[in-house]
Amino acid sequence: MDNLDLGKLDGQLLVFGGPYSNLAATLALREKALSLEIPPDRIICTGDLVAYCGEPAETIDLIRDWGIPVVMGNCEESLGQDSDDCGCGFDEGSACSVLSVTWYQYANALINAGQRRWMADLPRAIDFQYAGFDFKVIHAGVSSINQFIFASDSLANKDDQIKEAGVDVIIGGHSGIPFGQKIDDYYWLNAGVIGMPANDASPEVWYMLLNPAEQGFTATWHRLSYDYKQSRTTTYSAGMTEYAGALVSGLWPSMDVLPDKERQQRGVRLEIEPLNVLRV
Ligand SMILES: [Fe+2]
Repeated sequence: MDNLDLGKLDGQLLVFGGPYSNLAATLALREKALSLEIPPDRIICTGDLVAYCGEPAETIDLIRDWGIPVVMGNCEESLGQDSDDCGCGFDEGSACSVLSVTWYQYANALINAGQRRWMADLPRAIDFQYAGFDFKVIHAGVSSINQFIFASDSLANKDDQIKEAGVDVIIGGHSGIPFGQKIDDYYWLNAGVIGMPANDASPEVWYMLLNPAEQGFTATWHRLSYDYKQSRTTTYSAGMTEYAGALVSGLWPSMDVLPDKERQQRGVRLEIEPLNVLRV
């Protein structure tokens, strides 16, 4: 499926990315959504259900059972096609590339044909209207499923991509560190990921809430505490020892994909101010 159009959405929305086979974090987020009384049709996942942690099949089943809209990530594209690698876009021979071989082969051996077909059929973008704005949810870039786009990356490039998409607000994922930016009268939001910490020396992970406001909406980013020791155990047992350690330390095993500014933020506690988005 190319695009899924959700039409007009109201009320509080929850957006998150990158469950990464982290079952305990995904369970904790579903509990959080229940406590906030946000129904599945107002929750969106930006993709990469399966990656670095130890419970890929269980995580897919949980998300399918939850019934929320999901954008296809490069991991779903690769596993859906039964490809040889994760399609993350890592440079060959880099630490990320070497580490990804282990988790990809582990996950690829555990998922069943029905899960593979479901992943292959996910939409590559999700469109909706909210608070008077047109949104497009993508995994990475507007025309690339594996482009890393961070807060410090070029605003001009983000502006070009927003205009290519023809919307007011882009919500992206893939890169693993949450942020929100105003670019002229447009916005680029990244909800962060729940499957791996944000490289800030905390085991907590991140999600984003959107709330309607009088003249638009407000985006806020939140930490999620969960049973990371449980995920560490299953990830370690599965052989992904570096990622198991990262779940506890909150520090990524490799920074190959990070721009200089995000590298310098390693180990610094992440703080993200709310972003008030007003109609002009
Ligand atoms: Fe990705």
